[in-house]
Amino acid sequence: MNNLIDIKNLSKEDIVQLFLKADEIKANSKKKNRKILRGKTVANLFFENSTRTLVSFELAAKRLGAHVVNLNLARSSTAKGETLKDTIQTLQAMDINAFVVRHSQNHIGKEIQQWLNPDIKIINAGDGNNQHPTQALLDTYTILQHKMKIEDLKIAIIGDIKHSRVANSLIDILHILDNQRIHLYGPKKLLPEHSDKGIICQNMDETLSNADVIVMLRIQKERIADNSIPNLSDYHRDYGLNRKTLAIANHACIVMHPGPINREVEISSEIADNTPSVILEQVANGVLIRQAVLATLLQKP
Ligand code: NCD
Repeated sequence: MNNLIDIKNLSKEDIVQLFLKADEIKANSKKKNRKILRGKTVANLFFENSTRTLVSFELAAKRLGAHVVNLNLARSSTAKGETLKDTIQTLQAMDINAFVVRHSQNHIGKEIQQWLNPDIKIINAGDGNNQHPTQALLDTYTILQHKMKIEDLKIAIIGDIKHSRVANSLIDILHILDNQRIHLYGPKKLLPEHSDKGIICQNMDETLSNADVIVMLRIQKERIADNSIPNLSDYHRDYGLNRKTLAIANHACIVMHPGPINREVEISSEIADNTPSVILEQVANGVLIRQAVLATLLQKP
């Protein structure tokens, strides 16, 4: 593994190794972990807003002993007309070992890769509606902690799947891990164009009955023309997870959400804040998984 730009570039073996690394980091003492990336520098380049992803990359790098610089590029030289290439090469000259990049443009990681020395690592922290590989890793790591397997689980993904990089990369990783039981549901306009992504369901009953894992998604308003955003209370009635709709699922199911949550839109507070919600476990696992990714990319063999 040389970079983490697209989850599809990982093999099943790469994913297993990352999960083992996360387990190892969790078991290590804080002191031992702080030696892993001593002397390395990680730059977080966020061209889009983020709370949990940015903080979790920062904590992950710091807990491994790296230096971290956070750049909110909406407020920096790019606003003064500097090109992305110049910004990246300026930072490269300051001896950065890894760039963590969030950007609204799909496939920006590949472009950045061409401007950097090959030994500098790139980690995609979300590009447009394309990929969010560390989210896919932390989601499947969380599922494994609860279900001990991935292959034959019924996984329901509900909401704005079309504009969601979280859904895209989760579907990709589930395919790599041999799951063929992905069920997708949401308003027609927010469903993917290609049915190879999963089984497109017609209603909540079909989506949720016997579901082992339920992944709820936010409507990605920033990627949708205003006139096609659904009315939010109708949306909750038709596509929301609440006590009534959760009752359709397997009683041992888990409920996931990448955050940020829009309460009473895609999920009711009652469901988000109680078992079987594992939303805060996802957040905690996010730090561990990002530590595993940084350690794998930057640690000397
Ligand atoms: C997601 C993102 O930014 O892609 N959030 C996250 O990283 N946890 C999902 C979203 O914004 O809805």
